[in-house]
Amino acid sequence: MSNKPQVTVVGGGMITHDQILPSLYQLQRVGRIGDITVCASRRQTVEALAQAEGIARAFPEHSFRAFPEADSTKAQPELYRSVIESMPPRQIVIAAVPDQLHYDVIMAALRHDQHVCAVKPLVLQHAQAVEIEREAFKRGLVVGIEYHKRFDDRSLMARRKYREGWFGEFKLGTARLFEKWYYRHSNFQNWMTAENSDAFTYIGCHYVDLLHFITGLLPVAVSVYGIRDKFPNGKEGFLWADARVIWNNGACLNVQNGLSFPDAAPGTNTQGMMLYCSGKDAGALIEHHDQFRGMKYSYVKQPQGDGANIYAEPSPDYFQYLDMGGPGLVPVGYGYRSIEYILSACMRVESETGGLVARQKLLRELDTQGIMATPANSSYNEQVIEAARESILNGGREVKIGQGKSGPQTPR
Ligand SMILES: NC(=O)c1ccc[n+]([C@@H]2O[C@H](COP(=O)([O-])OP(=O)(O)OC[C@H]3O[C@@H](n4cnc5c(N)ncnc54)[C@H](O)[C@@H]3O)[C@@H](O)[C@H]2O)c1
Repeated sequence: MSNKPQVTVVGGGMITHDQILPSLYQLQRVGRIGDITVCASRRQTVEALAQAEGIARAFPEHSFRAFPEADSTKAQPELYRSVIESMPPRQIVIAAVPDQLHYDVIMAALRHDQHVCAVKPLVLQHAQAVEIEREAFKRGLVVGIEYHKRFDDRSLMARRKYREGWFGEFKLGTARLFEKWYYRHSNFQNWMTAENSDAFTYIGCHYVDLLHFITGLLPVAVSVYGIRDKFPNGKEGFLWADARVIWNNGACLNVQNGLSFPDAAPGTNTQGMMLYCSGKDAGALIEHHDQFRGMKYSYVKQPQGDGANIYAEPSPDYFQYLDMGGPGLVPVGYGYRSIEYILSACMRVESETGGLVARQKLLRELDTQGIMATPANSSYNEQVIEAARESILNGGREVKIGQGKSGPQTPR
């Protein structure tokens, strides 16, 4: 890798538009990365992305190479393979496709010697996470999983305080993350269907990951009760879910998720957690209101965009564009920091001149530090997802991790 890696994003949907592409443009602007390519399965996706007004305004001087290159009515779901094959070795691939396609994209990238940043969840099966970890380690490549809530300062603050002993031990907690109703009308209706995913697998995994990130505890059993509902295209999904996750100290986290937060409500979603903890002779708590960050705006006109309202409670913390004097606008927030951290890890490992063994030593350091989620330090997420899928398809019965199909727990 030259000191400016090429970056290829596979998938040009919501997360690429809202967070990944603007973060990459900013990294390009400050001279950290080289050329950017985006490969979707349809030409219209990359065209819409290239023309997206908000991004164009923030980055008037930036562009990406787009695949498919020519108009075609047919989707090209295998095109990303040739795009990855055409990259020089040891660059960076970002997997931003629907959950059930992550494994194929990540393995294609690793087999062509590319570092990988994968949107969450890494994969849907624990065995696949183990395979990815082995393949990447063998080649001295980074796989970073983009659980961006980890880079919210409040998560890092809670983690540090918890690990210093300020909260005692987590016992009972409740977390929620409901996306807005309009999500049902998006491309989600084509893939977030009952056979592929569910509201817990899609968004609940954030709070499972955060609980481990803060406390270091590991999940041991999961039950998820899901309510089937219809997307506008008639396909069925578990659009409401209530999960119970039991941890290795006997603690319990309840997680509620749905695509059902009213479009008329302020803010882009509702989310947060309350963790009740216990010391020797005192209780402790951690409460995070993750949707309301203390700002209330009431505009004189209706803003454009799905779920945008005349009264708004914007979050300054996830992703915002600021005018810092131009040209364009500067993206700030933990969405940007998360991408920057993972790509920096790829570049750090790649710049190691001591050969494969030295790179592998760095990979193990990243695993042990545990700030960036990697297949080796966060595959409990895949175990939870696998158990959750088994549970939700069986009316919410409890599935023990290590005793279900997910195999033995392998915390490292
Ligand atoms: N908070 C988060 O971390 C967060 C938030 C949103 C989405 N995500 C994750 O990001 C992923 C994508 O979600 P999204 O919201 O962007 O979904 P989306 O449906 O808006 O976009 C998916 C994109 O993948 C592309 N795609 C599908 N099959 C492809 C193929 N074979 N080759 C190339 N491109 C292909 C589609 O063209 C589309 O552009 C999911 O795994 C989701 O869970 C994470």
